[in-house]
Amino acid sequence: MHLTVIGTGYVGLVTAIGLADTGHEVTCVDLNRERMEQLRRGIAPITEQGIDEALEKNQSRLTFTTEYPVSDLYLVAVGTPERADGSCDLSAVEAAVRLIESISPGASVVLKSTVPPGTTERLSTEHPSLRFAMVPEFLREGTALADMRQPSRIVIGTRDALLAPRLEELLKTTDAPVVHVDPTTAELTKYAANSFLAVKISFINEIARLADQVGANVDDIAHGIGLDPRIGPAFLRAGAGYGGSCFPKDIKALTTLARTHDTHLHVIEAADRTNEAQLEYVLEKIHPERGMHVALLGLAFKPGTDDLRDAPALRLAERLQQLGVKVTGYDPAAKTVLDQKTTMAEAVAGADVAVIMTEWDDIKYVSPQLLQEHMQTPRLIDGRNCWQHLEAPGSVQYEGIGRPHHTFSNNPSN
Ligand code: UDX
Repeated sequence: MHLTVIGTGYVGLVTAIGLADTGHEVTCVDLNRERMEQLRRGIAPITEQGIDEALEKNQSRLTFTTEYPVSDLYLVAVGTPERADGSCDLSAVEAAVRLIESISPGASVVLKSTVPPGTTERLSTEHPSLRFAMVPEFLREGTALADMRQPSRIVIGTRDALLAPRLEELLKTTDAPVVHVDPTTAELTKYAANSFLAVKISFINEIARLADQVGANVDDIAHGIGLDPRIGPAFLRAGAGYGGSCFPKDIKALTTLARTHDTHLHVIEAADRTNEAQLEYVLEKIHPERGMHVALLGLAFKPGTDDLRDAPALRLAERLQQLGVKVTGYDPAAKTVLDQKTTMAEAVAGADVAVIMTEWDDIKYVSPQLLQEHMQTPRLIDGRNCWQHLEAPGSVQYEGIGRPHHTFSNNPSN
């Protein structure tokens, strides 16, 4: 069976590698000529653990082109950016499907892009010559290849009785459970998964704010509640809030769609508002004043990636700059337009406050000595509750999110 993947972003490229890993020949199509030339030379357009090795290993099975080939099965993984009104821009998906129909009538189309519930059914009606399925992708940036190789589940959304078992055979490479559903359910499953995780984060962030007020420790609370299997330990790390290419955009798309159906997603909308308020909370902790200097440690929306889409650090930098604060930044991978330094020492030099915004390993372990040496009165605000020197903070005035800091600032050890 000839397989084609349309779009070589995170989802497309990782999907293509996954199929090639299991012995399939895959053509990857992307209109970005430069990106295709780079990929032909084995250069990945994304920073992702293990991707260079995976591209090299599968070199003979992967073809990169800007032209749509005739194929039996197309996996569509093009972007679905946010429109100004919060809805999802489907023009790239629609254009891909039109092209597929003109080149390979009768082919199967598997939507991997995150699309609003109802999209696949609509496309099936508009393009009756094609067979459709929606197979949502749950991979996380930074661990995308591992997630693809060991998925927690595979959701296959199709009404096509022939396509469903074909896709199960193609995609089931581990003992991960396969959930067969209709396409609209598959589409909503993806949004529900992301929204639920975002709700968990906002929930613990609210508890963290209260913990600050009453002098409790949110890390211990997360541990204490996470041991209940009905709650689970994941996605309970309090901090500066979530960012990235999925959570903020998917929540906007889902709540916007719900409103067109006269349905109000109160809990999910609240999670989004809490996330925005969380950044303001970090801002308040800084006590920003005109002329102050703040060093942001970590700029990417999470460690293990250079992705800056909806990165809380960038939003914080913007808010600080609006208030007349000088901002310097440091990140081991992401490149920004901020006054970015190549070392942490340079970023914090002369700063009034250092703020951890991404829990990269080198940042987690930044030593009290380094801060003491380069800052007049070393103050550290930990927007990821990750600093590893709490037991011996030296003269660093430390403040986390929902962690009682008096325990540490009075610590006599150095
Ligand atoms: C997410 C989903 O996890 C993934 O299943 C989906 O396919 C795409 O969206 P991703 O955006 O790559 O993946 O990152 P993720 O690891 O989920 O983190 C998202 C954001 O939440 C980051 O900004 C992270 O810092 C934040 N986060 C995560 C927290 O603030 N606390 C947590 O406990 C977990």
